[in-house]
Amino acid sequence: MHLLITGNTGFIGPVMTRLAKAWGHEVTGLDVGYFKDNIPAGRADIPPDRQIWRDIREVQASDLDGVDAIIHLAGLSNDPMGALNAQLTYDINLDSTIRLGELAKQAGIGRFVFASSCSIYGAAGESPAPLDETAPFNPVSAYAVSKVKSEEGLSALADDHFSPVFMRNATAYGVSPRTRFDLVLNNLAGWAHTANIVKVMSDGTPWRPLVHIEDISRAALSAATAPRATVHNQAFNIGRDDANYQVRDIAEAVRDAFRNAVLEITGETGGDSRSYRVSFDKALTRLPGFAPEWTLEKGVEEIARFLREGGLSDQTFDSRLFIRLKQLQHLMDSKTVDGNLRVLA
Ligand SMILES: NC(=O)c1ccc[n+]([C@@H]2O[C@H](COP(=O)([O-])OP(=O)(O)OC[C@H]3O[C@@H](n4cnc5c(N)ncnc54)[C@H](O)[C@@H]3O)[C@@H](O)[C@H]2O)c1
Repeated sequence: MHLLITGNTGFIGPVMTRLAKAWGHEVTGLDVGYFKDNIPAGRADIPPDRQIWRDIREVQASDLDGVDAIIHLAGLSNDPMGALNAQLTYDINLDSTIRLGELAKQAGIGRFVFASSCSIYGAAGESPAPLDETAPFNPVSAYAVSKVKSEEGLSALADDHFSPVFMRNATAYGVSPRTRFDLVLNNLAGWAHTANIVKVMSDGTPWRPLVHIEDISRAALSAATAPRATVHNQAFNIGRDDANYQVRDIAEAVRDAFRNAVLEITGETGGDSRSYRVSFDKALTRLPGFAPEWTLEKGVEEIARFLREGGLSDQTFDSRLFIRLKQLQHLMDSKTVDGNLRVLA
């Protein structure tokens, strides 16, 4: 199958590209390249068979030539990025997603796998049972709103020939050619390694389900290739039922992996309003071929190894090499992009 993976030069994209190629697919990548060079020394990118460097806001029908299915990852990822400029998040994450869906439908591409997020459940509070795909949305950021509205807009395009699938991914962790330290597990591990402190600013109680980027990738590839009837216009929470953690559990697992690190739960910011405990039963039972392979313990070991082998200092780990917002700010300050993140010639 010929897959178009948008956002292929981010955190998840290269790992998905590696797996897609290993599963025998041909991959075209499309990305504007904000993080193109953010690869630490000693790590190598995973190139697709064909790379299109393009802003998703300017995607063209010809970019979809010969494509059988789309996995759409491109966008401003994460809540803090939405705080940068909410309108920009809507332009890039929402409007461009719907336009890409329309172009895909016109081109006769039957499968459109969208990277949504469990953050759409947002401030779910203490629900009596884990939230399944029918739970109400409570988005608390522009990012999460963009995911809710993208799902709605793509769903409106669904018909006998066009099947959108919504992958509501838990919070990601893992090591990629472009590893991130702005996500909870990786971030806590980074501080444990560089400063011997695992510092939780909230009271540690919010629920935050976690999933490894390889398992996100496997789920998306399964959705791209599954029989139509099993996934047509369906949402799937992507994670595992035994990986619903409270932030303090994640912090303790990290502290245990770094012998000299001290755990500090400051409670400065009180309870984070984002808290959701999620059921992953539907994907585990109804998404053909999907079986998550990673656990928190294995993930902590992987990131600890990455930090030790890389010998990262605190300045490096907390720099634009690994922190998305800092890289976007750098691109604007250096006039590589304008205030709307459009690449300047
Ligand atoms: N990382 C997570 O915890 C997580 C969880 C749930 C869902 N997701 C979703 O999965 C997708 C991929 O996440 P990620 O962690 O790899 O994000 P990332 O920020 O590392 O990568 C996103 C990629 O999209 C590209 N991009 C951004 N704006 C673009 C534009 N205007 N035109 C073309 N390309 C553009 C970037 O250059 C980047 O390579 C995102 O849609 C994200 O919302 C991520």
